[in-house]
Amino acid sequence: MIRLGLNIDHVATLRQARYKHAPFSSFAEPSPLQAAKIAQEAGAHSITAHLREDRRHIQDEDMRLIRQAVKHLNMEMAPISEMVEKAIEIKPDEVCLVPEKREEITTEGGLDVSRNESTLRKVVQELSQAGITVSLFIDPDPIQLKAAKQTGAHCIELHTGQYALATEQKRIEEEIEKHKLCAYLAKDLNLQVNAGHGLNYNNLATYIRSVPFLHTVNIGHAIISEALFSGLKNAVRKMLQLLEKQ
Ligand code: PXP
Repeated sequence: MIRLGLNIDHVATLRQARYKHAPFSSFAEPSPLQAAKIAQEAGAHSITAHLREDRRHIQDEDMRLIRQAVKHLNMEMAPISEMVEKAIEIKPDEVCLVPEKREEITTEGGLDVSRNESTLRKVVQELSQAGITVSLFIDPDPIQLKAAKQTGAHCIELHTGQYALATEQKRIEEEIEKHKLCAYLAKDLNLQVNAGHGLNYNNLATYIRSVPFLHTVNIGHAIISEALFSGLKNAVRKMLQLLEKQ
């Protein structure tokens, strides 16, 4: 079965909207830690949290607490020395390196690995030496994928944002073809294939039915949104059922 990683950043975004100056006071809700525990109990295989340079949602203390509470932690971060130090301190099971722009609302676009290969190789090496599995978030582009292999990364996360945004059947099929091609190439290069961004209850089935060798899908927005109405446990289970069906 394809594994489900739940991205809990949005829980912290909501907390920070009210408790920016006191995120760990006893009344600061909602708690990303509690969300991580509930999701794990509901069957999520991994918890993803993005420690951003500007700390707009997840805080350092969240990472520390969640690390202690979950079996598999995927830390998203920018490939910069401050974050490499943090990751080595926090010891997530996996790091997903993502590009980060201050003005973006959420991660937009994959890493330009081919242009930043030597920097990324150094970051991948440092994290790998600390025993952390490293994944690179890339657009479904063979050039980026081959460059990812050159950095020594263990895994790639295919950016599904364009697939999720596509509305016309032709565009959806074009995107799927790109992802399929990259999945086959990743398999040849012995890279684990994850995917994420914009996946939801409507578009997941087509994606996972079409793209082979998927190890994990990382999903945040759709599950946290559904949780507002049906509760987090039910929202996670509903996504797991879609994964089980395939
Ligand atoms: N994967 C990566 C690398 C991301 O940056 C994000 C968004 O933070 C996700 C997956 C989850 O995207 P969404 O919230 O749209 O499901």
